[in-house]
Amino acid sequence: MSKEIVLSGIRPTGNLHLGNYYGALSKFVRIQNDYDCNFFIADLHALTTNPDPTQLHASVKTILAEYLAAGIDPDKATIFVQSDVPEIAEMYLLLNMHVGIGELMRTTAFKDKARKALGITATDENDEQIEREIIGNETNKRVNAGLLTYPTLMAVDILIQKATKVPVGKDQLQHLELTRRFARRFNSFYGVDFFPEPYDFDFGGAPVKVPGLDGSGKMGKSEGNCIYLIDEPKVLRKKVMRAVTDEGPQTPNSPMSEPIANLFSLLELTSTPEVVKHFREAYADCSIRYGDLKKQLAEDILAVTTPIRDRINDILGNEDYMRKVLAQGAEKARERASKTLADVREIMGIRKF
Ligand code: TRP
Repeated sequence: MSKEIVLSGIRPTGNLHLGNYYGALSKFVRIQNDYDCNFFIADLHALTTNPDPTQLHASVKTILAEYLAAGIDPDKATIFVQSDVPEIAEMYLLLNMHVGIGELMRTTAFKDKARKALGITATDENDEQIEREIIGNETNKRVNAGLLTYPTLMAVDILIQKATKVPVGKDQLQHLELTRRFARRFNSFYGVDFFPEPYDFDFGGAPVKVPGLDGSGKMGKSEGNCIYLIDEPKVLRKKVMRAVTDEGPQTPNSPMSEPIANLFSLLELTSTPEVVKHFREAYADCSIRYGDLKKQLAEDILAVTTPIRDRINDILGNEDYMRKVLAQGAEKARERASKTLADVREIMGIRKF
């Protein structure tokens, strides 16, 4: 039996952090033997926020190195850059003919990004204001069309490979739901059973929690609370030592504040059960010193990131290797993409005489 097709992409907008590692990369590594895995760098998606060209290119390179350094094996999984598959751009045009402006405007991610571009504060009540501003706006604040059609492009990434399992974060589930809707719509409009419907990949177990160092919420690029895989030991130690804490437990067995619970979450990911137990007990009997906890945490994180960082730097120094990996990945990705695109053109009536 052929393996199920898994596909996931990441926008090249900076370095990968510990949250990306535990939430995505390490899981990708785990499944690469058992599925037909396709991991790509979504550089066309990154263009929707108009990045600096030099930075965009540098970011594609580091993400590739980071994928490989984390253990994704290019002989098992297909690793490619989105823009190396021109079939995606063509099918994006074709699929857009079946996508409504309204449904795109209603997606949460679009509304958030449109608000940001227009400088409107986020409330649930200002959908109409967004619409008015977009259509009536005569200033130079602009919501670009790529931002609106972001879900079409993402749907094409998935459908052109006929992927059925798509590991994504919670914030991308709505896009995945739209992808299913577009697939069904295409199938029923043309009376074909062509696109399979993709679902989130269920890794089982509780979702891993990777909090940031600022005391609340998860680790995220835009929160500025990240530990990057590429962080030098000095930088990493400093970040951990500066993590937000509280005044310490005042009475035995007191409940933990969020900043402290977050440090324990990170410790649980990177330390041994004995170490976690030691600090939990110290917290419970009020003998804990947060400085000691942080020192231990920094060293345990470094034990995870140091070999990865070394490999990232090796790979970044070997352009030939990176080029080879991407050429091989593009070839594999294009094989299936060109087949799907040819069928889509045929189905839609774009035919040769
Ligand atoms: N939109 C995704 C994100 O921001 C990235 C992405 C683009 C993606 N195309 C995809 C993820 C296809 C999964 C499948 O995280």
